[in-house]
Amino acid sequence: MYALDQILGCSDCMKEVRDLIHRVADSPCHVLITGERGTGKELVAKVIHAMSGRRTASLVPVLCSTLSEAAWGSELFKEAHNGTLFFDEIGELPLSLQAKLVQTIEDKKVHQTGAAQSITVDVRIIASTTLNLEKEVNAKRFRKDLYYRLNVVEIHLPPLRNRRKDIPILAETFLNRYSQEYAKTVLGISESALRLLINYSWPGNVRELESVLERAVTLSHATEILPGDLPAAVQEIGSGTPIRPHRLRRAKTLKQVEEEYICLILDKTGDNKSLAAAILGIDRKTLYRKLADMENKRVRA
Ligand SMILES: Nc1ncnc2c1ncn2[C@@H]1O[C@H](COP(=O)(O)OP(=O)(O)OP(=O)(O)O)[C@@H](O)[C@H]1O
Ligand SMILES: [Mg+2]
Repeated sequence: MYALDQILGCSDCMKEVRDLIHRVADSPCHVLITGERGTGKELVAKVIHAMSGRRTASLVPVLCSTLSEAAWGSELFKEAHNGTLFFDEIGELPLSLQAKLVQTIEDKKVHQTGAAQSITVDVRIIASTTLNLEKEVNAKRFRKDLYYRLNVVEIHLPPLRNRRKDIPILAETFLNRYSQEYAKTVLGISESALRLLINYSWPGNVRELESVLERAVTLSHATEILPGDLPAAVQEIGSGTPIRPHRLRRAKTLKQVEEEYICLILDKTGDNKSLAAAILGIDRKTLYRKLADMENKRVRA
């Protein structure tokens, strides 16, 4: 059974996501879930259904890119009657079926090609998309009326690189999951490996993090995950782009850059010193010493 606490993350944006889910789950309104690949859209859809009054009926997933005219109709809606239809990747629904979906939402009836009568259906629609539907509407690939019908409540799942604060708890959860599943005794993640995980850009988002942890648990010979257990891409982060010479005149000193970066990381971590120290690759004592030096300098200036 899916529940709200399965949607992990201590970042403010994930707290807002959970709060929004809590408020809309038991309402009748349709929901649009947006976000990049692997950010948890399907998980959110399952939790909403499980928290709604429709939980005893089915949550029927529909893969929009492969849905044909023939498959559309009363069978699909009958299966989801009193339950939820989850239109996955709604942006890929053919225009002809988009028109039929608007009609069904408006009439609460579905008409199957060839059948004499239409049947009344009671379904809630949850749609997900990785595409920007407003852009799709402007490009005339997505019907405006359907967009407005679905976008009553939008739940946006930000990419993992914009909520790095969530990485330690997600990584730890996946570590425990796979450690148990593969009967291994991997108990934790070393500080240097965690630093790499926090700094990596995660183009595949939470799904990629999960598979990196699965792999690391499988490869691990120790009681904790070490940098060598992580894929090369995660180990090779932070190469940076070269600075052009004409911009060097106004270049900052190493000390200035360090101080600014410390402030930025503290800001991003909500002043969480342990997490900031892990991201910066120094121990907490060193961070406190640097902060004290910065404070002394500020007082003297
Ligand atoms: N906040 C989260 N807490 C715990 N697990 C998560 C979270 N977000 C995603 N996951 C897990 O990550 C994996 C990918 O999530 P999901 O399939 O829901 O993503 P998606 O956005 O639907 O991806 P796609 O666009 O590729 O279909 C799943 O195993 C899911 O349980
Ligand atoms: Mg999905």
